[in-house]
Amino acid sequence: MGIAKPRTKNSESLILNTHFMKQQKTVRIGIIGLGNIGQYHAQYLLAGKVNGAELVAVANPSPEKLAKFGNLKTFRTGEALIGSGTVDAVIIATPHYQHAPLGITALQAGVHVLVEKPIAAHKRDAERLIAAHRARPELVFAAMFQLRVEPRYRKIRQLITEGQLGQIVRVTWINTDWYRTEAYYASSAWRATWKGEGGGVLINQCLHNLDIIQWLLGMPKRVRGFCQFGRFHQIEVEDNVTAYFEWDNGATGVFISSTGEAPGSNRLELAGTRGLLILENDKLVFIRNEEDMIEFSRTAKHGFTKPPTQRFEMPCEKADQPHATITQNFVNAILEGEPLIAPGADGLYSIELANAIVYSALIGQTVELPLDGAAWEKQLAQLIAESKLEKKVMQADMTDFTSSFRR
Ligand SMILES: NC(=O)c1ccc[n+]([C@@H]2O[C@H](COP(=O)([O-])OP(=O)(O)OC[C@H]3O[C@@H](n4cnc5c(N)ncnc54)[C@H](O)[C@@H]3O)[C@@H](O)[C@H]2O)c1
Repeated sequence: MGIAKPRTKNSESLILNTHFMKQQKTVRIGIIGLGNIGQYHAQYLLAGKVNGAELVAVANPSPEKLAKFGNLKTFRTGEALIGSGTVDAVIIATPHYQHAPLGITALQAGVHVLVEKPIAAHKRDAERLIAAHRARPELVFAAMFQLRVEPRYRKIRQLITEGQLGQIVRVTWINTDWYRTEAYYASSAWRATWKGEGGGVLINQCLHNLDIIQWLLGMPKRVRGFCQFGRFHQIEVEDNVTAYFEWDNGATGVFISSTGEAPGSNRLELAGTRGLLILENDKLVFIRNEEDMIEFSRTAKHGFTKPPTQRFEMPCEKADQPHATITQNFVNAILEGEPLIAPGADGLYSIELANAIVYSALIGQTVELPLDGAAWEKQLAQLIAESKLEKKVMQADMTDFTSSFRR
């Protein structure tokens, strides 16, 4: 049984970007998509929260949304913004299916890309986007995985990397505090449809948490998913999920998520041979075994004894504006070659997990990873073709949107 290790290959690896804009002091940024998150990015950029960045252009099909940004260059499509020559970099904040094509267009035009999560609507599209970056490695390609800057996850990663937990044997994440109402789903035509989103709670809400799992432990080797589709809402995609993971080294995992459960729960447990780590209510508790549990078991003379433990409690503050931190890191990567916190290519893994869980649930079998992305793309096309959902769209009050950031 080996230790599951934090992913280090892409994340925060030294990006030897010899072409960074050493001479240039300011990165001219364009935002594509002015919905909930696009407007949020615009707010902190306009408030000067990101050094070395200037928001100069925005794109959205709706003239009403563009009107709010009359002092910037405005465009009706992302492609027009990219082709305008007015930006050095874009933040792509459109619905999922546009992420890959817009990202590819931007990279081919020599524009740096920070793409919202998920980096694409499915694995094959993610691979296409990553390939476009591989063809232009001098450009910075990053993804908005802002949980990676939260002190609680950074601390866990540090403890694992230092070997403080010993060999990881189990991870359990009950992650059901992603409650969403019918009004949320009805707020846009693309939401919670195979055609508009490519999935449900996995590809949208808890994709961040799937990213954290693979960032902490690397990718599992096999996945078995159990999904309920439209269990709590009038939607066609999954809104209630239980998944089982197995890593090559024998470590196992259970991941449970839902957008229908209130109040919901958020408890992450990582069991290692040297102790148990529990994250709940923003408090990290580490119960450390004074001896490795496997060694103890082999040498103990009593049948019911356990290794003695020590308990450590670590309150964790919330990061201040984690999205702005990821954007700052993106800008620093362009200007100074700073290593990326969330390289775009890392976005493949969370999509792969999300796709594999749904695929496994649909075929009723365990799926070996890497997932056959073409098989999922075909399955997704079939789900889209067979969809009978008549989506009702209505005006919804989304002003409490930023409360969704706490996970
Ligand atoms: N990182 C986070 O915390 C976070 C939070 C929310 C949403 N997101 C992600 O951001 C994306 C957008 O989510 P949202 O909630 O803002 O959606 P939204 O529906 O509120 O906004 C999307 C906007 O994009 C516009 N748009 C669509 N196609 C376009 C195109 N080709 N060019 C320009 N504009 C286009 C739409 O008109 C709309 O205004 C999703 O992928 C979502 O997963 C990330």
